[in-house]
Amino acid sequence: MFKPLIAAALAATAFAARAQGELVVYCGVQEEWCRPMVAAFEKATGIKVAMTRKSAGEVYAQLKAEAANPRADIWWGGTGDPHMQAAEEGLTEAYKSPRLAELQDWAVRQAEQSKYRTVGIYAGALGYSVNEAELKKRKLPEPKCWADLIKPAFKDEVQVANPNSSGTSYTMLATLVQLMGEDKAFDYLKALHRNVNQYTKSGAAPARAVATGETLAGITFQHDALIQALAGAPVKVVSPCEGTGYEIGSMSLVKGAKNMENAKKWYDWALSVEGQSVGAANKVSYQVPSNKAAPIPPQAPRLSELKLINYDFAKYGSSAERKRLLGRWDAEVSNLPK
Ligand code: G6P
Repeated sequence: MFKPLIAAALAATAFAARAQGELVVYCGVQEEWCRPMVAAFEKATGIKVAMTRKSAGEVYAQLKAEAANPRADIWWGGTGDPHMQAAEEGLTEAYKSPRLAELQDWAVRQAEQSKYRTVGIYAGALGYSVNEAELKKRKLPEPKCWADLIKPAFKDEVQVANPNSSGTSYTMLATLVQLMGEDKAFDYLKALHRNVNQYTKSGAAPARAVATGETLAGITFQHDALIQALAGAPVKVVSPCEGTGYEIGSMSLVKGAKNMENAKKWYDWALSVEGQSVGAANKVSYQVPSNKAAPIPPQAPRLSELKLINYDFAKYGSSAERKRLLGRWDAEVSNLPK
């Protein structure tokens, strides 16, 4: 008697899921934030999400490789430069969300500069972190500037991602070029190379290595290091005294997406206060959200209080410039003997 009823209920549930459809998300922030975002969206819409976490440079390369037959529907998160490059190369779809009016100016500017093929969803300042316990053990003074990281005391003690795969590390490369001028920036990067013990794939990994003491210093976004400090690690977050850059974390619809309608539902939801509250509520995001009404976590570094450069997102997000700088880094820095 009950079997048919149960079968009917299961069929209805399955049908309901199918009725809302599916969505494939390439997620560019750390897993700890990707997962609650997916769970919250599925709960809010009934749409089944398949999510893959990749670094910004990797997602850009994958969208380029899949352009003829896109596998993803939306690229959410990760630094803005590779999103801008993908937009310029026609890998992403133009879309004007009704929620654009709710966003900070810097987020709208990202959309305008990309002809609405991407949009800003959060901002965060670049910097580095040091393991304070290790510093004390070695009786080293607390570093405060970029210049400190190329000193002999940090030989083999600095970790940063590879700028080809990581948007964080490309932001560092472009920041140093804007801060010091290109040739002096590459002199700095060659000196830094001698102190780097590992170029990681993902941008936030060096912050975790500093927290465990595996490395003395790690170049990441300040909020990635803050997460480690808030978790109780002996981590000091440094906003370099010479000045530093910042990211506009972005989101883009994939050109030719198979689930375009559901991708637009994610897009509008991820710009809403509800969508932009998930990270802070789960204590996995200390970036500044782009929706003016979304709560900014009290511990989030306040960009207005930091010495930031006037980062030229149009220039360093352009295809030619990003390719050229990465090519120069590969040729002149990455293969240098230690
Ligand atoms: C972390 C940061 C994000 C940043 C992302 C870039 O997740 O919290 O703010 O956008 O890294 O990742 P990537 O691995 O490309 O440097």
